[in-house]
Amino acid sequence: MSGMPRRTTLVVRVDPLALDAAVIDDAGARLRAGQLVVLPTETVYGLGAHALDAEAVAGIFAAKGRPRTDPLIVHLASASDVPRVAATVSETAAALAARFWPGPLTLLLPKHVGVPAIVTAGRDSVAIRVPSHPVAHAVIVAAGVPVAAPSANRFSRPSPTTAAHVLADLDGAVDLVVDAGPTAIGVESTIVDCTVSPPVVRRAGGVPIEALRHVAPDVVAIEAVAGDGEAQLAPGQLLRHYAPAARLTVYDGTPAAAEARVLREVRQATGAGRRYGLLAPQESLMALAPSIAAAASHGRVVSASLGPRREPEAAAQVLFARLRELDDAGVDEIAAILPAGEGLGAAVRDRLRRAAEGRVVSV
Ligand code: TXA
Ligand code: MG
Repeated sequence: MSGMPRRTTLVVRVDPLALDAAVIDDAGARLRAGQLVVLPTETVYGLGAHALDAEAVAGIFAAKGRPRTDPLIVHLASASDVPRVAATVSETAAALAARFWPGPLTLLLPKHVGVPAIVTAGRDSVAIRVPSHPVAHAVIVAAGVPVAAPSANRFSRPSPTTAAHVLADLDGAVDLVVDAGPTAIGVESTIVDCTVSPPVVRRAGGVPIEALRHVAPDVVAIEAVAGDGEAQLAPGQLLRHYAPAARLTVYDGTPAAAEARVLREVRQATGAGRRYGLLAPQESLMALAPSIAAAASHGRVVSASLGPRREPEAAAQVLFARLRELDDAGVDEIAAILPAGEGLGAAVRDRLRRAAEGRVVSV
């Protein structure tokens, strides 16, 4: 890839239940020395660098092909490290941290002067998260420094939930990949802006808003922000994001209406010789199966399940892997039926809508 410095990428496997101290120490030492180290977290794999080393952080942007206008999340081993990177902590932020850290929650707080401007893209807030994954935690402890880490995918691609996804995008662009198997949650952390009152969710993610409200009842969902909601999102959310190579359209409505509409599209497309990917809750795939059996047997339709409709956690866990699988199957187009929005469903709907770049059909 043009302009991307080549590195020798070492891949090491670790069992998250029986950590190999030599591997963890090596990963930590590499981070301290300014190298790029890919880490498993409970959400997605992250592309880590020493957050207080501006040159190391510049390497993240180069490896990902990410615009420098899009700030990074700083990962800490413990909430007690927050004063190293944030200037102040509001009462609400402290309460959210106490309840959800370690875990899939990112807090925006006023930035500490010691955090290089490249990390926050020149903003005066900093995004902070304490991951719960035992490997991420152990490596950050071993590094002894805060670790800046975006999702470990090339810019605009689906986020990686396995080391194979990471290597498909970043082999030769990073120094080390720590492989601990598939990530558990599958979508990124929820981002809550605690620099404003009431706090605002700037990205739906691994902690559902329903759960946040138990601690911070006044927390505002991004859709509820008056006026230009898009302007209130995390900057990275405005960019082309999570997109498969195939042209993705999402369908939103009752299952029956969405299924009928998707069936029409599939018939038209396959009739015209195009190959179609179908991404939907298991029940919808089963309802559609008899109608698409012939096309499927000729490989013109490939189905990918988001799991049972009542289990949004299952959809979150497999979402990005399914998008990559459909690309690997070589389909020209993908139709996705959106799951319901409860719990992690909100994050799944958000990612699919963004990946579709505006091609959202209400039925
Ligand atoms: O679960 C996660 O959050 C994963 C794992 C690796 O921790 N990380 C992740 O990072 O998703 P990334 O870079 O793909 O997404 C971070 C988002 C971006 O949309 C970015 O714009 C936003 O966080 N962000 C970071 N710092 C910010 C700031 N100071 N103000 C507003 N948004 C910020
Ligand atoms: Mg990302």
